[in-house]
Amino acid sequence: MKIDLSFSALQFDELQLREKNVIVVDVLRASTTVIVALSNGAREIIPVASIESAVKISGSLFGEVTLRGGERNGKIIEGFNLGNSPREYTESTVRGKSIIFCTTNGSVAMAKSRYAKNMAVGSFVNMAKVVDFVKQIDADFWIVCAGKPMGLGSFSMEDAVCAGMMIEKVQKSEPAKVELSDSSRAAQALFKAHGKSILKMMKSSDHGQYLKSIGFEEDIALCAGVDTHPFLPVLSGNVIKLRKDEQRSFEADVAAAGR
Ligand code: MLT
Repeated sequence: MKIDLSFSALQFDELQLREKNVIVVDVLRASTTVIVALSNGAREIIPVASIESAVKISGSLFGEVTLRGGERNGKIIEGFNLGNSPREYTESTVRGKSIIFCTTNGSVAMAKSRYAKNMAVGSFVNMAKVVDFVKQIDADFWIVCAGKPMGLGSFSMEDAVCAGMMIEKVQKSEPAKVELSDSSRAAQALFKAHGKSILKMMKSSDHGQYLKSIGFEEDIALCAGVDTHPFLPVLSGNVIKLRKDEQRSFEADVAAAGR
């Protein structure tokens, strides 16, 4: 199993991901927001690469079951229902809703993965689920780090450390099988150097500091939690949903809670 990695979603063309197994990582914040939204009962996420596409698609969908979410410069896009803070995607807001999702890098990486054989959305909050998924697929993988919004798609520390943690965990459990590219080895080394205090690393990262400066410091702690949201969003057709088995267990949990 070869694990390759790209430090930016701008490094490749979508056709290069055709028939590949892909994990998209945008820790701050698009991946984490997608995971939180689906774990709070959103029906599906429709990732788009531009505001124009979001507007076009939402014109053909039913307003009451569709929300538009996303950001530019970290802030809600004018005319959208939600920004890109995972804290906005509460159960009362997103349950049963389709969310057209447009962010600077994260949704672009997700939309670019539409021809992948398998695509999952990963972050610290669903780490164990991603690692299990990679082991189940048991084939070559490409981790796509979305990269940093300021300086479009450039290297982002938190994405690299998160990808490095995934690689470290897969390699530890399958040492004989795993082969790493240079970029995967670099991410693993960054995880070993900075993974002991994920929150500290994220607070001092460029994008962490920017989010703090625009009032989203609380998002950083949420995004730094490891395995706090044990759900795996996967590409299903052109949309992102929880895996079928997770949808069922989620519904059973909600029913058991009597809601
Ligand atoms: C992105 O897609 O570039 C990010 O998720 C930006 C953000 O933190 O809102």
